[in-house]
Amino acid sequence: MPIHSKLPDVGTSIFAVMSGLARETGAINLSQGFPNFDCPKPLKDLVYKHMIAGDNQYAPMPGVPALRQSLAQKYRRLHGCDIDPDTEITITAGATQALFTAITALVDRGQEVIIFEPAYDSYVPSIRLCGATPIPYKMQPPEYKVDWERVESMITPKTKMIIINTPHNPSGQVLLEEDLLALQGIALRHDLIFMFDEVYEHLIFDGIPHFSALRYPELYRKSVVVYSFGKTYHNTGWKMGYTIAPEELTREIRKVHQFNVFSVNTPIQHALADYVNNEEWYSALPGFYQEKRDLFVDILRQTRFEPVDCKGTYFQLASYRTISEEDDLSFAKRITREYGVACIPVSAFYVDKSDFKVVRFCFAKTPDVLEAAGERLIKI
Ligand SMILES: Cc1ncc(COP(=O)(O)O)c(C=O)c1O
Repeated sequence: MPIHSKLPDVGTSIFAVMSGLARETGAINLSQGFPNFDCPKPLKDLVYKHMIAGDNQYAPMPGVPALRQSLAQKYRRLHGCDIDPDTEITITAGATQALFTAITALVDRGQEVIIFEPAYDSYVPSIRLCGATPIPYKMQPPEYKVDWERVESMITPKTKMIIINTPHNPSGQVLLEEDLLALQGIALRHDLIFMFDEVYEHLIFDGIPHFSALRYPELYRKSVVVYSFGKTYHNTGWKMGYTIAPEELTREIRKVHQFNVFSVNTPIQHALADYVNNEEWYSALPGFYQEKRDLFVDILRQTRFEPVDCKGTYFQLASYRTISEEDDLSFAKRITREYGVACIPVSAFYVDKSDFKVVRFCFAKTPDVLEAAGERLIKI
């Protein structure tokens, strides 16, 4: 039977390809984004405690109420916003499911969604599966800046959504107050929905505050804000996340969520409910990751790579323009094989595979691993 593929040009993701090559060649894997250190022990103990206590059946569809209440409390403290945990927060199986569910619920066939490239890889297929068209705004190295007037000129009667990611994977750039105010202006002038991917909310450096959409009521009114516990608690493998959105948007998101996963891991939700207001944990994250960024940038400065200024996330971009003229995929594969360090070619984050001779390294690693990678990178 001939199979009609809904995603004919989608192959194996670059993350699987580069991690596979790293395994095969024994290279140090700085490609895929995950820490090589463990999540906090008290949080693991809480999961065990709740399992033993019998919190092992289906959670309520929108999420365990105690967790939603804890999150509302957290964002009141962080951003001064008043989020209703009953009607505005939905717990999801990671940010990826949150993004997919919200796009599926809110974007229709024939509509357009503006994305900023280089873009996290799940946006485009999620948009295409709705029969909609991604409209890329191409950001370029070394600054990866956005001109909001140009973005506004890209809005057509078909535009339904704009997806914004701050701090931004892979560029490491962050939006500032002036950017959020420009977006709020666009929100007031156009009938659109804004999706804010804020999974790296606590991985932000040099004292820069995280300007969340939750801080701007007129913008939030039209926004879905997506988070991931995995990035904040060093447990990407738990696949836990959530959406925060006004009631009328949340209602639509939950209609899809209930037939997508229905509800997510019960004991972990209870454990997180007890843990998310541990302010000490998330307040320490910017310093914790900034130290790693500084170490890795120092290392790169001793090589022929040119690091891009990184203000957030756990990713560091580097140009290899002075090393080679190869395309970035060939270069990434070759240095994995020949020098034993795996990275991600940034062309993978552009629909048209634009190649700016830049690769992405993940620095969510212990210093010994970053230093060992440095000893290899310096030989290139
Ligand atoms: C920008 C961005 N959004 C979403 C996600 C997905 O998060 P999760 O692992 O919670 O699905 C990631 C993970 O790498 C990401 O970098």
